[in-house]
Amino acid sequence: MKNLAVLGSTGSIGQSTLEVVKHHPDRLRVVALAAGKNRDKFLEQCRIFRPEFISLATREDLQWVLDALDYQPRSAPSDEGLLHCVEAEGVNTVVSAIVGASGLRSTEKALRHGHRVCLANKESLVVGGTLILEALRQGQGELLPIDSEHAALHQLLHGKDMTTIRTIRLTASGGPFREWSLAQMKKATVQEAINHPTWKMGPKITIDSATLMNKGLEVIEACHLFGLTPEQIGVTIHPQSQVHAMIEMHDGSFQMQASANDMRLPIQYALLYPDQIPSPANVFSWDQPRTWDFHPPDLNRFPCLRLAYQSLCTGQSASIILNAANEESVNAFLKSHITFGLIAECNEAMLDTFPLQQPENIDHVLEIDKEVRLHTQKWLEAHR
Ligand SMILES: NC(=O)c1ccc[n+]([C@@H]2O[C@H](COP(=O)([O-])OP(=O)(O)OC[C@H]3O[C@@H](n4cnc5c(N)ncnc54)[C@H](OP(=O)(O)O)[C@@H]3O)[C@@H](O)[C@H]2O)c1
Repeated sequence: MKNLAVLGSTGSIGQSTLEVVKHHPDRLRVVALAAGKNRDKFLEQCRIFRPEFISLATREDLQWVLDALDYQPRSAPSDEGLLHCVEAEGVNTVVSAIVGASGLRSTEKALRHGHRVCLANKESLVVGGTLILEALRQGQGELLPIDSEHAALHQLLHGKDMTTIRTIRLTASGGPFREWSLAQMKKATVQEAINHPTWKMGPKITIDSATLMNKGLEVIEACHLFGLTPEQIGVTIHPQSQVHAMIEMHDGSFQMQASANDMRLPIQYALLYPDQIPSPANVFSWDQPRTWDFHPPDLNRFPCLRLAYQSLCTGQSASIILNAANEESVNAFLKSHITFGLIAECNEAMLDTFPLQQPENIDHVLEIDKEVRLHTQKWLEAHR
């Protein structure tokens, strides 16, 4: 039995995870739930799954939920609560589905405990890098990606000798601005950017998909997960989002992984690996004609992807800087404080500003992250 702590249960990935849990009551059980501010949705989830440990961002919201429940789970608020969820008795599997670098500590702790970590929160691997891999090594647990592209690669690379792999390729839908000119994109509104053509996701990753920063973060994630160099990882635009990844063997042949674009599939893969059994996800049908397009990304129109490669080649703190700047600039855009075009400009300015250093531990990562955020906020204020 997999006993789960679901961190970020009220979000897009969190809710899909709970749908998978409902589908497999004989294999999956919720022990701990954690979320941020959405106390109504959280209460509903607690009533259904009756977790033994719960956490919300504030003490007040947590008390409101506890008062409304007909049983008394153990609880703790904020970051401390996230760590308690990971350590709750019986937990052996953690779904890390909080958005942003705030998922770093809980992801690291879960790995140190030797749990299976099903990782949606790519930002923790982007900023934590080798420190996260070291926690995995020390804890002797498992790290299974939830991103559809990385879940596809996990399947494609399974049992392969990595020396037989020449390159890997992540696909990207191209987002809502795939065919927009640079000038049009610069003035895009929040409403236009949030309108993703193929996936329904939380607001931050949806904007990251529109800038292709999400693909950049995924390239960094893939480097760490599969031990590859930046030169070995390519990106291909595939608007239908049904082929998720490809691997190229040294003899020039390719293998691809395809499925319906439904996140419940990679979530179930990570939860139940190595078993691939029927899932609640939509099933792919070959009864209708189907056309798939593939083309290379345009790095001039989507500079965030270029910045991610640049940061990978520069060193770990560059990824921390890029991620922190991006979280702040996307947040400012979502509040309509800056234009869409300024997201990439801000991220590049921060990468050019900060000195590079090798983070020694997670506290050091979070120190750099905090310093970059303060500086980014000043930059954004000056450009409003
Ligand atoms: N959505 C997808 O299809 C998809 C696909 C691949 C990877 N991912 C990755 O998965 C992660 C989550 O994405 P999402 O789309 O599910 O985001 P989302 O819908 O915005 O959900 C984020 C979740 O994190 C919670 N949260 C945020 N800050 C928190 C904090 N400080 N403490 C506790 N909980 C906090 C939110 O709680 P409240 O809502 O209660 O405030 C919510 O439950 C991201 O890293 C994203 O890149 C997502």
